[in-house]
Amino acid sequence: MSGPVTIAVDGPAGTGKSSVSRGLARRLHARYLDTGAMYRIVTLAVLRSGTDLEDVDGVAEVAAQVDFTVGFDPDEDLYFLGAEDVSSEIRGDAVTKAVSAVSAVPDVRTLLVARQRELADGSVTVVVEGRDIGTVVLPDADVKIFLTASAEERARRRNDQNVAAGQPGDYEAVLADVRRRDHLDSTRAVSPLRAADDAIVVDSSDMSEAEVVAHLLDLVEQRQRTGASR
Ligand code: DC
Repeated sequence: MSGPVTIAVDGPAGTGKSSVSRGLARRLHARYLDTGAMYRIVTLAVLRSGTDLEDVDGVAEVAAQVDFTVGFDPDEDLYFLGAEDVSSEIRGDAVTKAVSAVSAVPDVRTLLVARQRELADGSVTVVVEGRDIGTVVLPDADVKIFLTASAEERARRRNDQNVAAGQPGDYEAVLADVRRRDHLDSTRAVSPLRAADDAIVVDSSDMSEAEVVAHLLDLVEQRQRTGASR
């Protein structure tokens, strides 16, 4: 396989998935597509429209009309709603709290999955990061990675981030929240979080970010050498 390669990176939050996906894209001189950011932009549009999050039809309607642009550069975090740069706002608390509800709406997923397939059409090498990329969005991706880490390790990392951000640390509460979200994510009706049958599961619990990137790069290069295609 010497042409463009499509790489799917899925897994729960707290595994270092975003940093690792960006790092991999950088090393491959590839594009990077953050599908979570797309759900976040739509969520921001829904919040601004004043639509009730439980109004599934209303949420779907906003999603159908929203005009957004996503960046592809792994060194930049650049997202636009219309002409407005919303890169910081989509990472804020309000969006983070509401995004699960919006991303559970089937019509929103259908719309964004179609957009994701257009953006990762196999014409250039791309690392696509999300929850359902290997299973739903790009079932024919050349390389599928499912990045995991133990609940304890993910809770420890998140708690450390909270403390670094000046919030009080509460490891037990964070761990309970990680477990609750794991359960919700893996049991939800639409696109539950699971590894594709042909995904390579990588446990990052005892690996540094650099080690994970190097390992994924190896996996991609192996795949390129063997030249096998799905
Ligand atoms: O990775 P993130 O935290 O930016 O994702 C934001 C939300 O979108 C999170 O609730 C998971 C959801 N998501 C999804 O359902 N499917 C994807 N492909 C990517 C993200």
